[in-house]
Amino acid sequence: MSLASVIRSEERLLLPTYDRHHILFERGRGVYLWDSRGNRYLDFLSGIGVNALGHAHPAIQRTLKRQAGRLIHISNLFFHEYQAELAKRLTRISGLDRAFFCNSGTEAWEGALKLARIYARTNNTNGHKPKWRILALDNSFHGRTFGSLATTGQAKYRDPFVPLLPGVGFVRFNDVDDLQHQFDAGVCAICLETIQGEGGICTVSPEFLKLARKLTESGDALLILDEIQCGLGRTGRYFAYQHYGVQPDIVTIAKPLAAGLPLGAILTTDRVASSMHPGMHGTTFGGGPLACAVAIEFVRVLDDVLDHVREVGTYFSQQLEGLKATHGCIREVRGMGLMLGMELESADIAKAVVSVLLQNKILINRTHETVLRFLPPYIIREKHVDDVIRALDSALSSSALKRQRVATQAASRAHNRHTRSRNE
Ligand SMILES: Cc1ncc(COP(=O)(O)O)c(C=O)c1O
Repeated sequence: MSLASVIRSEERLLLPTYDRHHILFERGRGVYLWDSRGNRYLDFLSGIGVNALGHAHPAIQRTLKRQAGRLIHISNLFFHEYQAELAKRLTRISGLDRAFFCNSGTEAWEGALKLARIYARTNNTNGHKPKWRILALDNSFHGRTFGSLATTGQAKYRDPFVPLLPGVGFVRFNDVDDLQHQFDAGVCAICLETIQGEGGICTVSPEFLKLARKLTESGDALLILDEIQCGLGRTGRYFAYQHYGVQPDIVTIAKPLAAGLPLGAILTTDRVASSMHPGMHGTTFGGGPLACAVAIEFVRVLDDVLDHVREVGTYFSQQLEGLKATHGCIREVRGMGLMLGMELESADIAKAVVSVLLQNKILINRTHETVLRFLPPYIIREKHVDDVIRALDSALSSSALKRQRVATQAASRAHNRHTRSRNE
């Protein structure tokens, strides 16, 4: 099928939820992808943080082939040999005790919210009423289902679907005073991404995370961390919270867990898990033998790449900082390991840079309007970073972009003048 016929068919047949780039990908190997015209692309997005071992990784292929020929699905009515084995590995690397497997990030997050509510109902009461309020963060993103939307602090995702789950309050990002002020005896959980991904690669501060841990510990509430994007090696440690010396009560993971197959998980403590009983939560597909067997392989390979993620991540971040020193339109470079963002001075410029990189056959994306997001596979090398830095440098130096910048600055000056004269 040609790209044009796929586009025509999708326009007629699919819900119009995506605004896709007009590229038809056919295969991938390592850090590269090939489209239907034979063009090769350097993948610095890895399917939004999913293909952490790149494409067609030999160990993943081997496991997939072997397990697909044995057993793909059995449901959660019966045992298979891989859930407990995967849980053993995930609890060992997270310092938590138990796992629940599902199919996606948003499903893991929904389960975590249910766990917080049932834990509060079972274990602690606020007078006679169970605690039930949840504190989430401004600018957060936890997924597209209703509970996830209710805890997502960005109007563009929430507003079309209100009313959402009640009882959620939003704290200003990294504002310890606001957190202290909003936390009270009715709160059953504080929940946050250790590094906000869709929110523009914003790292939670140690003071804020430590206060969240202290308040939840002393208030018998739970600290829930969403590591769906930043967890499982992305920052050069198994989990991003391990950079802070803070241990959460619940962690959610998904994206890279099964190296491209859909698999999510909730990890938690024995104490929290003891409030769940058979029948309270479940899934048909979650934790199937195929996805779990592949995830075991992913976690095994992860051990060998963490040091590399830290090293190449530091190199990448230094190179981005180097660009910042020469291009005035770069506001900030943020992130950890191989979860990096570069904030530019306007959405138009960020959009233009993504598009120029795409023309140069490099995949990145733009998040939170003005931020270039880099989520490359963990197996990239310095030479791949150099290719991306060269392409960014030339995109940011191009005369078209400079003209765009002059236009943006003129528009912003005109806007300021207009606001000033209205206020006078
Ligand atoms: C931090 C975070 N939480 C939750 C989700 C939702 O995951 P999914 O798209 O697998 O439902 C995402 C997806 O981007 C995410 O980045």
